[in-house]
Amino acid sequence: MRRLARLPLPHMLHDPWLDRWLTVIAPHARDAAVLELGCGSGHDTATLTAAGFDVIALEIDPASVSRARMRAPKAQVLCRDLLHPLPSPISGGKFGAIIASLSLHYFPWEETVRLVARVRNALRPSAVLVCRLNSTEDRHFGAVGHREIEPNYYLLNGSPKRFFDEAAIDRLFSEGWRIQSKAHVITHKYVLPKALWEVVLERDA
Ligand SMILES: C[S@@+](CC[C@H](N)C(=O)[O-])C[C@H]1O[C@@H](n2cnc3c(N)ncnc32)[C@H](O)[C@@H]1O
Repeated sequence: MRRLARLPLPHMLHDPWLDRWLTVIAPHARDAAVLELGCGSGHDTATLTAAGFDVIALEIDPASVSRARMRAPKAQVLCRDLLHPLPSPISGGKFGAIIASLSLHYFPWEETVRLVARVRNALRPSAVLVCRLNSTEDRHFGAVGHREIEPNYYLLNGSPKRFFDEAAIDRLFSEGWRIQSKAHVITHKYVLPKALWEVVLERDA
């Protein structure tokens, strides 16, 4: 039988986006845990634990939870719905940083607003939220051609998915947050270009 050579992943599929933010997260994670929302298979979780952070990661899909636990054994990966109360760090207190990569787009607007308020409440004053949000320009991944449930919130193969424009981001984080960085970027991780917003915010005091 002919064996296929095991090739490294093409550069296109590697998306080390979180590396850029480790130096922003580090001062907040020195004496406080980091919470990750919707960790999927744990790629970012592994980046966070490799940086030496104490990480709790939440994920609703049990198969993804298993993969994340394998990929990031030093993290505490919990099978948990983001719409349920967020956990506290084991050591007590609040989180120094929260990471949410492409995991805040599943919910109706009012639910999203409530989730962001819970995220804020889970953070220490001046702690950071690093998030990535689907862009309304994300044409290859559903931003056009689907049934709209709410403005920029569509039903894709039976599952709701939100896309954000800059005004929606400003509205979502208008109370209790200071926007430190907001960039519209394209990732090639998913082969077809995916447009998204990368946003870093600080909880105000
Ligand atoms: C698009 S994936 C992003 C995964 C990972 N953060 C990344 O950037 O590669 C979104 C993840 O959020 C999870 N998710 C969706 N709804 C959720 C919910 N209500 N509670 C917890 N996780 C949820 C999905 O199962 C999925 O793994």
